Amino acid sequence: ARLAVLASGRGSNLRALAAAFPPGDPLGSVVLVLSNRRDAPVLALARDLGIEARFIPFGADRARFEREATAQLTAAGIDLVLLAGFMRVLSPAFTARYAGRLVNIHPSLLPRFPGLHAQRQALEAGARESGCTVHFVDAGVDTGPVILQRRVPVLPDDTEERLAARILAQEHRAYPEAVRRVLLGEARFEAPQNQEATP
Ligand code: GRF
Repeated sequence: ARLAVLASGRGSNLRALAAAFPPGDPLGSVVLVLSNRRDAPVLALARDLGIEARFIPFGADRARFEREATAQLTAAGIDLVLLAGFMRVLSPAFTARYAGRLVNIHPSLLPRFPGLHAQRQALEAGARESGCTVHFVDAGVDTGPVILQRRVPVLPDDTEERLAARILAQEHRAYPEAVRRVLLGEARFEAPQNQEATP
């Protein structure tokens, strides 16, 4: 399978995914990285790793970003799109088009603490435990079907940075394992069931 990563920042999850799915791997290879930030470290990292990397401006025009991203993903023959620190919300049209082929990682045990600053939210809520979640993306923010989670303790003297680092170490194990399950057909996106009785 041909894998693409969409990312906005540092790229440590890209590094983990690229190591798990190198060129020529029979299960899958990361072959394309797209970023909405021209200066994102993840673009330089991708190029260092020998992976095709492109900047696509997002700005105020989400539709234009999504048209361009779709064109690039299609041209590259991408089977699975992996969001890894991609800091923009995609439209329902885009998430529907890629349903079951679009995956995200989030630094909390969803459904707890969706959205921004999940590690800070966990500390402020006094959670004793947190972790990370890999999930299929649906039209909501951090709401789609869970593929897998990894848990970490929250320690009494934790700072946001220390908790984030502890979670990140688990993200780097969770993301490749979740992708493996998707590629092996062990995790599938189930469309929401219609709860209405059918006549
Ligand atoms: C990770 O904590 C991810 O869960 C969150 O953004 C961070 C991205 O880190 N959504 P990196 O760019 O992969 O290093």
